[in-house]
Amino acid sequence: MRTQVGIIGAGPAGLMLSHLLHLYGIESIILENRTREQIEGTIRAGVLEQGTVNLLNEVGVGDRMMREGYIHHGIELQFNGVRHRINMHELTDGKSIMLYAQHEVIKDLVQVRLDSGGEIIFNVEDVQIHNIDSKTPKITFRREKDGELEEISCNFIAGCDGYHGPSRQAIPKEVRKEIKHTYPFGWLGILIEMPPVSPELIYTNHESGFALLSTRSDDIQRFYLQVDPNDDIENWSDDRIWTELHTRVDTKDGWNISEGPIIQKNIVSMRSFICEPMQYGQLFIAGDAAHIVPPTGAKGLNLAIADVQVLAKGLKQFYQTSETELLEQYSSICLRRVWKAQRFSSWMTNILHRNFKHSHFEYGLQLTELDVVTSSKAAATNLAENYVGLPIEWEL
Ligand code: APR
Ligand code: PHB
Repeated sequence: MRTQVGIIGAGPAGLMLSHLLHLYGIESIILENRTREQIEGTIRAGVLEQGTVNLLNEVGVGDRMMREGYIHHGIELQFNGVRHRINMHELTDGKSIMLYAQHEVIKDLVQVRLDSGGEIIFNVEDVQIHNIDSKTPKITFRREKDGELEEISCNFIAGCDGYHGPSRQAIPKEVRKEIKHTYPFGWLGILIEMPPVSPELIYTNHESGFALLSTRSDDIQRFYLQVDPNDDIENWSDDRIWTELHTRVDTKDGWNISEGPIIQKNIVSMRSFICEPMQYGQLFIAGDAAHIVPPTGAKGLNLAIADVQVLAKGLKQFYQTSETELLEQYSSICLRRVWKAQRFSSWMTNILHRNFKHSHFEYGLQLTELDVVTSSKAAATNLAENYVGLPIEWEL
């Protein structure tokens, strides 16, 4: 098989890249090792930045999002039992965020690719990358276990295969720097069958730990509680979860969280990860393959979408003019934005979570940081600009 760009992974990065390339008249094939049902059913975060929303609309994939998603103009920060609203819309000249789950974005992107004849090969095995330091890289794979080895020859390979995929490992160890940071926090996430409890997301700092109230739809809500990252979900009965949620999110002025049936619960750990550079030879890595952010601020999906916007433009420039200027800057343009998202996600994580190793002094500074953010327009503007999403800086 031959194509111009071989894409590994049908997550938001791989699917959006394939769609953008199609709009630019560039061919691609996506190899995905899970089934369509699996990729469309995996629950992930659900906050889309303004730039992501704009892009989805511009490239014709935004209709269902505009109908079913929820536009939020602000968020609430709660500490000492009191809520403070950050009016992002006002602080960013009219920008906002969209609550629309990642797996819904995936469904929309898969549909648009298949409708326009795009090739996504699901359920593949044994994907391997070859010759990335030549102009004729190849990907080999099998359609089923022990099936025949097939080959895709291409000009470029896009590694959009998430943190555990093989692409990043194909960058030689001598040129690949992996930067890692682990946070001493975990998130217990629950899905609840009930109507929304608040018109906007509530991020809460409480002495017993962080809590976040988010939403998925008119009937399903998504809440998170800070827990020990090594805790076992078996230790968290529904009763214990509700007791803890009441402790952390009920307010001094008498607001109490309403309860509903919990339909799913799990615990995830939190880390930051960055791979530098994000390109080697004809291989470009994008999204979770290149970087992971802690979930506070929900930047993961948005970063993946920004990466492939840069990559698609670079490939377009190459195919239209034979110029490689933008492709050569791919890694630097993306990493600049990735580091800013790491800074923001790490800052949000640190101001909102309870670090039980901290001294009274450090805890006092943390609460004061929240006080400053909610009382200074300059500080709130910084939060708002980052939350709705920073622009891609094409000029380095
Ligand atoms: N071969 C083919 N496909 C693979 C392989 C492989 N060896 N390994 C992984 N994949 C697929 C995964 O099954 C997944 O569908 O690559 C895809 C990667 O998708 P994501 O993990 O969603 O990564 P990305 O597209 O970069 O999107 C980042 O997704 O994980 C969330 O929180 C993260 O919101 C962020 C977003
Ligand atoms: C979510 O709805 O899953 C979500 C929302 C906001 C975050 C993280 C996750 O900061």
